[in-house]
Amino acid sequence: MEERLPRRVAAVRGLTRRFGDRTVLDELDLDVHAGEFIALLGRSGSGKSTLLRALAGLDRDVEGGLEVTGTVAVAFQEPRLVPWKRVEANVALGLAAPDAAARARRALEEVELTGRAGAWPLTLSGGEAQRASLARALVREPELLLLDEPFSALDALTRITVHRLVLRLWAAHRPAVLLVTHDVDEALVLADRVLVLDGGRIAHEAAISAGRPRHRDHPELVALRARLLTALGVGPEGHPVPDRPLTAEAGR
Ligand SMILES: Nc1ncnc2c1ncn2[C@@H]1O[C@H](COP(=O)(O)OP(=O)(O)O)[C@@H](O)[C@H]1O
Ligand SMILES: [Mg+2]
Repeated sequence: MEERLPRRVAAVRGLTRRFGDRTVLDELDLDVHAGEFIALLGRSGSGKSTLLRALAGLDRDVEGGLEVTGTVAVAFQEPRLVPWKRVEANVALGLAAPDAAARARRALEEVELTGRAGAWPLTLSGGEAQRASLARALVREPELLLLDEPFSALDALTRITVHRLVLRLWAAHRPAVLLVTHDVDEALVLADRVLVLDGGRIAHEAAISAGRPRHRDHPELVALRARLLTALGVGPEGHPVPDRPLTAEAGR
């Protein structure tokens, strides 16, 4: 089965991350294939950001195998723009290419932020700042795009717009995307594959075959929503499932 899948851009084998005596990632295995859109779900504190930071090369204190090929770019929940640089300079930040400015402008055009290229970050709306952050990730032409809950602070309407934008950018550039979210519906609307992180490992995994654009009431999504909510310890009706403890290592 493995040989029919596209090229791998990341291979994680037995990845473990401890903070003191707490094991947050516990022998975790994960393959990311070129061009796929993965959503990573998990309860707060389950280690999603820890895994993303490891994949981004931002955390050297991990044990186990971690192989990432190609360029990686990250966008975080807070856009993390440098306040004393204008938007375009933020997007070009750290780009060594001689045509960095032109590439930054092109990326801003793609996220429909051309009009704000000369603006100061603090004057942007939440959605604009998040789009600038996406442009900064995109301009690196990543093969692996890591998104850590980038839409969770946006209002519902802005979030829908940004979801469409992300799908459009993904279709145009085809990076592999690993999107961390705690929003099951966001995962269902966007991803080819949904993973649930629990107990320091990928505890559940499901592929989504429904075509895009997707409707929430597509039968495949309805069925999967119920399964994912249960996997996350929330009953399908929104009631907490009682007595479903985290494993000892991942407990808070
Ligand atoms: N630098 C750190 N030092 C100590 N504990 C940490 C550190 N980073 C994360 N943790 C702990 O690891 C657990 C997982 O954190 P995190 O990966 O941020 O979870 P998530 O993103 O799923 O909400 C949390 O309990 C958090 O407190
Ligand atoms: Mg997090």
